[in-house]
Amino acid sequence: MAGHVSPGGFTGTSPVWLREPDDVNALVGSLWPRTATKVDGVLQVGGLSVPEIVANVNTPAFLLDEADFRARARAFRDAFAGCDVYYAGKAFISTAVARWVAEEGLFLDVCSDGELTVALRAGVEPARIGYHGNNKSAMELRRAVHEGVGRIIVDSIVEIDRLADIATQLGVVQPVMVRVTAGVEAHTHEFIATAHEDQKFGFSISSGSAFEAVRQVLAAGSLDLRGLHSHIGSQIFDTSGWEVAARRVLALHARVAAELGHAMPELDLGGGFGIAYTTQDDPADPAVLAEQIIRIVAAECGALGVDVPHLSIEPGRAVVGPAMFTVYTVGTVKEVSLDGGATRTYVSVDGGMSDNIRTALYDADYSCTLASRASDAAPVLARVVGKHCESGDIVVKDEFLPGDVRPGDLVAVPGTGAYGRSMASNYNHALRPPVVAVRDGAARVIVRRETVDDLLATDVG
Ligand code: LLP
Repeated sequence: MAGHVSPGGFTGTSPVWLREPDDVNALVGSLWPRTATKVDGVLQVGGLSVPEIVANVNTPAFLLDEADFRARARAFRDAFAGCDVYYAGKAFISTAVARWVAEEGLFLDVCSDGELTVALRAGVEPARIGYHGNNKSAMELRRAVHEGVGRIIVDSIVEIDRLADIATQLGVVQPVMVRVTAGVEAHTHEFIATAHEDQKFGFSISSGSAFEAVRQVLAAGSLDLRGLHSHIGSQIFDTSGWEVAARRVLALHARVAAELGHAMPELDLGGGFGIAYTTQDDPADPAVLAEQIIRIVAAECGALGVDVPHLSIEPGRAVVGPAMFTVYTVGTVKEVSLDGGATRTYVSVDGGMSDNIRTALYDADYSCTLASRASDAAPVLARVVGKHCESGDIVVKDEFLPGDVRPGDLVAVPGTGAYGRSMASNYNHALRPPVVAVRDGAARVIVRRETVDDLLATDVG
């Protein structure tokens, strides 16, 4: 069964879920892009040697397996055939990636003018774009309407007024969805009811504000209400959270039909499909998730006596997360004595929290491997840390690496495609790393490394 094993404690210095590997050189296949492999201990992707790729671009660098990205996008599209699959660009977007998304037949979810600009530059059809955000500015809304964005997901009463005015001024009828909160916050395989007033996104179903928002959209002649939208959270491994959310959202959907006489033709259940960062995680196949979600929606609509709306979903992490990994160069290695006589090997790399904030921000677990050579040395429990001025600047909290790991080695961290480069910062004036797409033996930079001139360009003295 798909799921996530809670760490539940430590044995010595190591979390209980982390097992010493039989072969410390081997890749754990489920964590890596599908073309990743090792040849004589050297990591390969897309038919190229990783040390050779990074010799040209330096480290740290994100390497993106294009075939893997496209295959994951297609897997969602095919699993959810008959539904619209929006790739959530917040996970990672660039012009090339937006093109792949369009080529694979997916729609695109953006949540800022910057993301919209990239999408349009890539040639994504505006009608196939959904636009999110709890505080879209009048300028952002005006541009989205002007460009013909297919769905604007409204998030507040202020925004409904603002958007209705803008659409009236521009002489168009704008299709919208109403973002609702179903009181379900999914934490991996658990879900916890949350206080609705503590939620900044959307309109609460239970308090009645979602119904009021729907009424207000229907009253605006310049807005076309397509349906309700619910996103329950991220890194979810089973369908129980979606099931509860779908029930509550569809109850509102049916109430709108019954009391306001408006049968909404669509329903969006958001993203949040989990991926494997370490051996703790066992995500379900999109086909299994799709089958369950579609069945839940159909059953609930049957029970409510309403037509099944056209469904859409918005996966981000599950498409790009496993397709990309980060490559670092080791700079220093240090043994640190711990209470009880144990030691921990601190491996410092040339990036850190500026290219992966998730460990510091969410206490996220990652894995890693020595990417540049095979080693006969016995495994040691290592912590991979960055070069920033913070003790919390940790990339991989716990992983076994060969005991002879040393300066100059390359270390690669899988699963960094989602919310890695997209949440990267210039902390300590770090230069954000490049993204190199690899496919069929060819590598091409799709996002170049920042330069000191890029940093200085905004510093006007
Ligand atoms: N749709 C909506 C409305 C969302 O807010 C999100 C994510 C998604 C779709 C895509 O969710 P995904 O399938 O990627 O889980 N920075 C955090 C995740 C925040 C996600 C925000 N919204 C992280 O690094 O885990």
